This record gives sequence, C-alpha cells and structure tokens, in this order.
Amino acid sequence: MSALGDIAVVGLAVMGQNLILNMNDHGFKVVAFNRTVSKVDDFLEGPAKGTNVIGVRSIEEMVKALKKPRRVMLMVKAGGVVDEFIDAIAPHLEKGDIIIDGGNSNYDDSIRRTKSLAEKGLLFIGTGVSGGEEGARRGPSIMPGGDPRAWPHVKEIFQAIAAKAPDGLPCCDWVGEDGAGHYVKMTHNGIEYGDMQLICEAYQLMKEGLGMSADEMSAVFANWDEGDLDSYLIEITSEILGFKDDDGKALVEKILDTAGQKGTGKWTGISSLNLGVPVTLIGEAVFARCLSSIKDERVQASKILTGPKGKFSGDKKAFVQDIEQALLASKIVSYAQGFMLLREAAKEYKWNLNYGGIATMWRGGCIIRSVFLGKIKEAFDRNPGLSSLMVDPYFSGVLNKCQAAWRRVIATAVELGVPVPALTTALCFFDGYRSETLPHNLLQAQRDYFGAHSYERIDKPRGEFFHTNWTGRGGKVASSTYTV
Ligand code: 6PG
Repeated sequence: MSALGDIAVVGLAVMGQNLILNMNDHGFKVVAFNRTVSKVDDFLEGPAKGTNVIGVRSIEEMVKALKKPRRVMLMVKAGGVVDEFIDAIAPHLEKGDIIIDGGNSNYDDSIRRTKSLAEKGLLFIGTGVSGGEEGARRGPSIMPGGDPRAWPHVKEIFQAIAAKAPDGLPCCDWVGEDGAGHYVKMTHNGIEYGDMQLICEAYQLMKEGLGMSADEMSAVFANWDEGDLDSYLIEITSEILGFKDDDGKALVEKILDTAGQKGTGKWTGISSLNLGVPVTLIGEAVFARCLSSIKDERVQASKILTGPKGKFSGDKKAFVQDIEQALLASKIVSYAQGFMLLREAAKEYKWNLNYGGIATMWRGGCIIRSVFLGKIKEAFDRNPGLSSLMVDPYFSGVLNKCQAAWRRVIATAVELGVPVPALTTALCFFDGYRSETLPHNLLQAQRDYFGAHSYERIDKPRGEFFHTNWTGRGGKVASSTYTV
C-alpha cells in the first residue's frame, strides 16, 4: 500500500469519524484532520486505533500526505464554516485537485462553490450523505453532484462505502452538475420530514383517538413494517414506542412535544414555492414542527379553546388497518410531490436527473429507505418520463384501493378533533390532482374584477386573455398577464 493517503476527511465529529472508519474498512487510506487538533489524537487513540488512518495536525501536512489528484472531503457544519475551510485549503491545492463537501449544505452554496473553485482549476463536489451515524459507519446513501470531471476520481471510494440496495446496486451514483447532489439531498430531507409527520399523525390518532398504549402501538408499527410500509422510519418508531425509561414507563411519553429542525425541510418548501410546485405535504410537515414549537401558546390556548367531546365508537382493529392504508396513500402523494419538485428543479437548473437512479440511491442507507422506493424505481423503469408517480399503474391502483379508508381516517380525525395536517393535505392534493375542473375560474374572475388581471376563456384558444368591465365603472385596460 502506498504511504500516501487516498482521501482526506476534515472534521472529526460523529459523521466524519464514522465515514473515515467505513473508508478504512474498504481498504482506503484516509488522512484525518480536525481544526481542534486534540480531536485528531483522541480519534487515533480511540476509535481509529489499529487502523491505517493517518492523523495530521495542519492543512499543509494534510495536503502533503495525499496522492494526486488530492481528494479532500469536508465533514463540517454547513454554512460559513465550509467556505472558511475551502478558503484555507484551496491555496494549498493544485489544478485538478478535488474538494468535497459532505455536509447538509444549501444547493445554492454548492452551485456557487462549484463555479468559484472551477475558476481556480479545482473540482468541487457537493454531496448529500444520509443515514446518520450508523449509515456513515456501515453504508450511507451518498448523493454527489458538482463538477462532473471530479466524479471518476471519487466514484470508487463512494460506491465502495455506500449502502447496497437489495439487488446489490450501490446507493450512490452521480446526480448532476453543481448543486444537484445537495438539491436531491434537500428533497430527501423534505420527504423525511413528511414521512415523520405522517407517522406522528398515525401515532396521535391511535393514542388519543383510540386510547392505545405505547406497547400496543409499538406492535402495530412492527406489524406495518412487515407490509407495504416496510421502512427504516416505521421500524425505529416501533422500537421507540417500545423503549422504556428507568421507571419502566415508555420514554417517548416523557419527551417534550416541541420539534427542532435544522432547515432542510424549510428549504424544500421555499424551493417548491419559488418553482411553483405544489409540495403541500412537506410544507405542512414543516409548519407542524413550527406549531409544535410554540408550546407555551398552545398550553394557553388549550385552556380557552374547546374541541369535540365524543369518543371513538367504531371497530378499533379495522380503524388501525384504515390508518395503515391512509399512511400508504399519503406517502405516495408525498413522494409524487417530491419527484415533481425534482423535475421542475431539473428544468430550472438544467440538470439531467435520473429519477430511477435517485430512487435507487434512496433504497438503502438513508433515513427514508424503504421497500416502497423499490416500487418507485420500478415505476421509473417502466416509464422514465412519468409525469407523476400517482398515475403510474401500480401507484394509481394503490391510491384507488386505499382511498375509502383514507377518507374514513380523515373524517374520523376531524370528528375527534385530532389534527392530521399531512394526511389531510395529501388527500386534498389527490382530489385536486384528479379534478378536471377546479374553482379557479371564479378566482380568475375575482382577480379580473378587482384588478383587471384578465382571464382565459374555455371557448377560446389558450393564451388569449380577456378583461370584463364587471361593474360598468371600470375601464377597458387590462393589467399585464405575467405569472410568477
Ligand atoms: C440524514 C438526515 C440528516 C438530518 C437530520 C436532522 O439523511 O441522515 O436527513 O441529514 O440532518 O435528520 O434534520 P432536522 O434537524 O432538520 O430534523
């Protein structure tokens, strides 16, 4: 083995350390660096003891310890810290060397960094890495984008350390230019927010609507994990519900109900608004976290505002089965919306995204890994140009089959006063998406009435705009017809 390192990893927090150990297991020689150098010593004396990891104490030493082209992977906090490291490392590199950012960076930053480093002759990769600590150690899902010239130099390492889907394919492939990798990771996280919110709604319905215990719910989730909902998040939910605190009671019930968020779900919502894509479920999931976090206000309001007093009186077992179907149908809507967003982003940013490939990358290693993603891959294999997952023969069949249960769940939740924003928005989207006509003829009339914004007519060709003087008091001049 050469004395020089194959790749350097900067940042020895939990993700960085575990990625290094994973690379080492796969026969790569990794150079480890951290700004607080004592962490390098701790790592070498601790988890990296007995490995081939080379510890370095300065950027100069790190650069000297690497084979060419040099590969330097940053596993540091997203934001300004990434720029600080790039600015510190880049002057020590040579043309053709590669800087990889493996944090949860914003895709706009990755677009900017790809361009500014290319101007210096350096190749940038912005990559999503999903799977948390366990994924980083045993096989994450890796979503690299950036300068395509860099991909052949990192492909072997990334695909070796990535998780493998059930058919053996690595959960890592080239996503696309500049910010594409981080955009796909952002969308992954947005979908993660949606999945988690849906699961929380199912939990609240069972707990408050049906009065089920944590152990009973744990068993339900374990059972769902054997069927179409088989996924990492359902599996860990079952384990969380079954986990006992020191006093033997369910720990989950002692956790304060205020959700944190680091921003990737919000970015997904912002991007969907900017691109005009109705990604309603992720939006609701983000807002549900915001609502959860205004705990004091909710406590106050709970003393003033009342809700329904009625109790669930139906067949509990049948209703739990209904919830399973409502979850599955809502999940289809959420993923359909996520892929709609990716399609629009690909147009906007001129990325050539491979949707089946993205589903493959998400099949293993990442937080949203599931059997369901295999079905999505099959849908894109059947039709790579699929306009929406909802119209794929398999998924439309499931939606049509689940919808009666889905409607029962939402109707019951509304009657019981249990908030289910994600389940509801998914059904509203389903009903809107399958509607040949929506009430926006009236909305267009309102816009034209008060603002002369003009409208198109069903009896005239598209693109021809009309204005009516609705009151007899307005003028004949219409406002311009641009749409944002
Ligand atoms: C992953 C996760 C991870 C994310 C956390 C926390 O793919 O491993 O998406 O990247 O940072 O889940 O996200 P929030 O703090 O925003 O919930």
